[in-house]
Amino acid sequence: MINITQRRINDKFNEEFDILHKVDPKVLAAQDKGSTMSQYPLEELRHKSLFPNSKREIHSIFRYPAKLIPAIPLSYLNSKYLPDEGSILDPFVGSGTVLVEGQVKGYKGYGIDINPLSILLTKVKTTPVDWNLFHSIKSEFWSSVIEEDPDIPVFTNIEYWFEPQVQEVLGKILNAINQISNEESRDIFRLCFASIIRSMSNADPIVFPPVYSDKAKKGNINRSFQSIQAAFDERLDYIVKTLSNHLSTLVAPHIPEVKLGSATDPRVYPENLDLVITSPPYINAQKYLRTTKFELFWLGLLHERDKSELEREFIGTERLLRDDYSLLDNLNGQHWSPWVSKIREVDEYRALIAHKYFLDMGVTFENIYNSLKKNGKFILVMGNNSIRGIRIKNHEIMIEMAKDTGFSFLSGKIDPIQQRYLSTKRNETADFMRFEYVLIFSKD
Ligand SMILES: C[S@@+](CC[C@H](N)C(=O)[O-])C[C@H]1O[C@@H](n2cnc3c(N)ncnc32)[C@H](O)[C@@H]1O
Repeated sequence: MINITQRRINDKFNEEFDILHKVDPKVLAAQDKGSTMSQYPLEELRHKSLFPNSKREIHSIFRYPAKLIPAIPLSYLNSKYLPDEGSILDPFVGSGTVLVEGQVKGYKGYGIDINPLSILLTKVKTTPVDWNLFHSIKSEFWSSVIEEDPDIPVFTNIEYWFEPQVQEVLGKILNAINQISNEESRDIFRLCFASIIRSMSNADPIVFPPVYSDKAKKGNINRSFQSIQAAFDERLDYIVKTLSNHLSTLVAPHIPEVKLGSATDPRVYPENLDLVITSPPYINAQKYLRTTKFELFWLGLLHERDKSELEREFIGTERLLRDDYSLLDNLNGQHWSPWVSKIREVDEYRALIAHKYFLDMGVTFENIYNSLKKNGKFILVMGNNSIRGIRIKNHEIMIEMAKDTGFSFLSGKIDPIQQRYLSTKRNETADFMRFEYVLIFSKD
């Protein structure tokens, strides 16, 4: 028996599938002006039957936006794409899904992300821990918290988001965490702190990015030291249990190298890779930085004064400068110009966001190409989205862009999104993605 949600997903899938497979390619090409669909038919990807059912608890230790379904990397981490002793890179590493699955399979992993929280999360998930040392630190932790002065970050409206006594207790916990000298243990405590920070704030616990909630405030107004301690301990126990169970299953694991940096920067890429698997950010559909700002500010991973500058480095950023408008001068002739020019007719700002997104993705593709070995494979998982009601066929554009870079296109698949944690807010400028495309390329 399928439930209503599943049926809706299936209906939407069939709707999309019809578009992909049944519409006369000529009609489609006329509709989309420049559509390449007929050249690159996509295979249906039935997630349940084609992909192994991989529920690995470790992927749940932190709620990071737009996580990849682990079954996707897992399906491609095999001898067809990777030799024994192979190496993989995810240049948009996020919560580390690809590297975790790669590590389980015994591969050497590399990751890049512009969000410092992603680096912390991926490191914690993939780094062995001296558990004896960890538990001795843990046993003394709360007595040190009581002694510490609060270490409270400075950011605008902190008092609106965090009640004064909550700030005080969180600040004391943070100060005690920062005194832990063993790096792996400290990182676990920091991740635990990040995991509870949203529930300690006056923001809705679920909605991303943070929105104020009266209900959340009510829960925090009389929050005691003991209740914060209990929430922290409960979360820490869950993280430790999940992490230690997971890490104990790994035999002589390779510890991935994860770097903070931009995928557009060639200097952060390793060389001689066998495989790149990644799911890039979307055009203005996810506000990664705004979504994780409390965690970043509190942990000192980002200062408010640097936020705008960092936001500009995000691919798909909405934070553009006046000077960026000159980029639109070279819009004509790009693979995305049929779509972006249509957006430009109604909204120049949104057109610029999309144009810059594709330019940045083009630079990223070059970096990926250069970091792969000959015959190395590149697997791109992404969705399409609509801007100002214009549905952009990202996957078609990406195929052409990758080919321009030197890749050959091997095959493509389409999968209904079922598990990714996506923003579901629909508005006239950005739609959410209902399907994912898995595009496979080779560096010949
Ligand atoms: C769709 S998420 C990746 C999710 C990841 N596959 C996972 O399973 O958690 C995209 C990631 O791209 C990162 N990102 C955005 N702009 C970037 C840039 N210029 N360089 C590197 N990473 C960037 C975001 O911080 C986010 O973590």
